[in-house]
Amino acid sequence: MAEPILEVRGLVKHYPLTRGILFKKQVGAVKAVDGVDFTLARGETLGIVGESGCGKSTVARMLVNLERPTAGSITFKGEDISGLSGRALKAVRRNIQMVFQDPYTSLNPRMTVGDIIGEPYDIHPEVAPKGDRRARVRDLLDVVGLNPEYINRYPHQFSGGQRQRIGIARGLALRPEIIVADEPVSALDVSVQAQVINLLDRLQNEFELSYVFIAHDLSIVRHISDRVGVMYLGRIVETGRDAEIYDHPTHPYTQALLSAVPVPDPEARERRERIILAGDVPSPTSVPSGCRFRTRCWKAQERCALEVPELAVPAEFRLLPGPAAHDSACHFAEEKRVVPPEEGPRPVPPPGPTGPGTGEGPGTGDGLGTGDGLGTGDGPGTGNGPG
Ligand SMILES: Nc1ncnc2c1ncn2[C@@H]1O[C@H](COP(=O)(O)OP(=O)(O)O)[C@@H](O)[C@H]1O
Ligand code: SF4
Ligand SMILES: [Mg+2]
Repeated sequence: MAEPILEVRGLVKHYPLTRGILFKKQVGAVKAVDGVDFTLARGETLGIVGESGCGKSTVARMLVNLERPTAGSITFKGEDISGLSGRALKAVRRNIQMVFQDPYTSLNPRMTVGDIIGEPYDIHPEVAPKGDRRARVRDLLDVVGLNPEYINRYPHQFSGGQRQRIGIARGLALRPEIIVADEPVSALDVSVQAQVINLLDRLQNEFELSYVFIAHDLSIVRHISDRVGVMYLGRIVETGRDAEIYDHPTHPYTQALLSAVPVPDPEARERRERIILAGDVPSPTSVPSGCRFRTRCWKAQERCALEVPELAVPAEFRLLPGPAAHDSACHFAEEKRVVPPEEGPRPVPPPGPTGPGTGEGPGTGDGLGTGDGLGTGDGPGTGNGPG
């Protein structure tokens, strides 16, 4: 593995549950994140996947220091940053930036795109001297495939995909080394998702970025991730290289998630086994003893209620090195291929314009792209364009 840029150990975030108004008494805790470990190598993309409510955004907020961990450490290039404050915190924050899930609510509607993208320079003027900022913002617009002439427009004048490009440009403004992207395409039309993922992929090479890429669906992270961590109820339950997770999963929860991903090939879809999980995800205020997945696991036995399974290569695979020998927090880990191999190459999303009439964007279709095949597809609508 390449040099680690970020190491997360025993990360915990518990929100206290209190009762009483005057004399608040803690009666419990929401265990949003309950012991997460992972390492991000320089230049790599780590996908983090799990159902809604499993703690992904809470992990993201702690990584970018928007929230302090209850316990655990976050080490950036060898320095524990989880307890930093003041100038030291500011310096580290610059290097780890976030792209938010919802481009409709994360951009201030009263600010121009130029001010939104350039706002980080107010906090870090050393990155771009005042006279230089407009030029930098124009460059950033160009880099993310938007027309630099749009610098004075407002967020409502852009489509969802274009707004997410603005969010990405803002994330890049301080030239960070790590980007934490929290479900960056979940709020977008399926037709636009691939374009934004392709953009992130290109930017990663261009700016030598390392990504933590969060999604609730395994199919989305597959195309971009080198490694994947699967989260359940505040913990990572299985992690490995992408082929290990997709083609050789050993944790029952991962197998269930995989059995629900869309399979484009109808024949492969027929052959796939569907695993329907019983019951709902338990509340993070009352996490089951032992293995937290046991209330929904079809393989659960007595041991599962008594002993917490550690995230490590299961004993049965330790002596048989191969793709099944990756970390899996299950006492009874077994390899099970859920998604049949696809025949022939995977369908590649078409680059560039998808043609007008998708209704997606108020753009004018007049050259948003930069000629790299990335730009225009998400905004060639016609109607209420800016101008
Ligand atoms: N500020 C908070 N106070 C109390 N509970 C919270 C807070 N933020 C998140 N939670 C709870 O923590 C759990 C994990 O939330 P979140 O990290 O947003 O999950 P995800 O991003 O995977 O959907 C959820 O049960 C959520 O309700
Ligand atoms: S440890 Fe037990 S309950 Fe947990 S995933 Fe494995 S078999 Fe299922
Ligand atoms: Mg979230």
